[in-house]
Amino acid sequence: MFISGKGSNLAAIIKQIQQKKLNAHINCVISDNPQAEGLIKAKKASIKTHVIKWHTSASKNTQVLKKILSSHQSDLVVLAGFMRILPKAFVTAYRNKIINIHPSLLPKYPGLNTHQRVLNSSDRYHGVSIHFVDEKVDGGPIIAQSSLKIKQNDTPSRLKQRIHKLEHKLYPLIISWFSENRLHLSMDGIKYNNQQVPPQGILIEL
Ligand code: GRF
Repeated sequence: MFISGKGSNLAAIIKQIQQKKLNAHINCVISDNPQAEGLIKAKKASIKTHVIKWHTSASKNTQVLKKILSSHQSDLVVLAGFMRILPKAFVTAYRNKIINIHPSLLPKYPGLNTHQRVLNSSDRYHGVSIHFVDEKVDGGPIIAQSSLKIKQNDTPSRLKQRIHKLEHKLYPLIISWFSENRLHLSMDGIKYNNQQVPPQGILIEL
């Protein structure tokens, strides 16, 4: 898993694994931020951590990441609040094997400050998307989404809390689909249990 900060999604995934609700194994946690709180959570769960220095050179970053991953033989690269744009060569090398969680109903609001932007636009709904990673920021085929109705008293920080609650359920669920070999991405798009997934992903009510 790749993180840069708090690691609440990491913690939610660790919890589900420990409770045997998710049949998966986290080989390692990689962070570009040595102060990331998530590193402490990983260490407490006896997960190997790697703090990397983020370079200005994309090829150097690719080399560093590939070296770490090749020592772990991971099936899936899970981004959870990793605040760097992955080098194109890395994305190409791990195509269809990198997923990300984003706090908006993509393709709306890629990038930062999604909660504020949703409120500024007076949207009625907000939500979470989990998608395969391609070369575009917060781009790539959407696997699943979960939404919530915006309340009148919602603020960016309240929305952040409400969205996190959805994230902590949705990410472990989607990872379980991978571990059960239910999800496949090909030129024809995503298939879940051999059924075509619509462009907005599978809508999950949580
Ligand atoms: C989450 O809101 C996720 O959607 C976004 O970054 C945040 C990470 O939170 N990509 P945490 O570090 O897992 O608490």
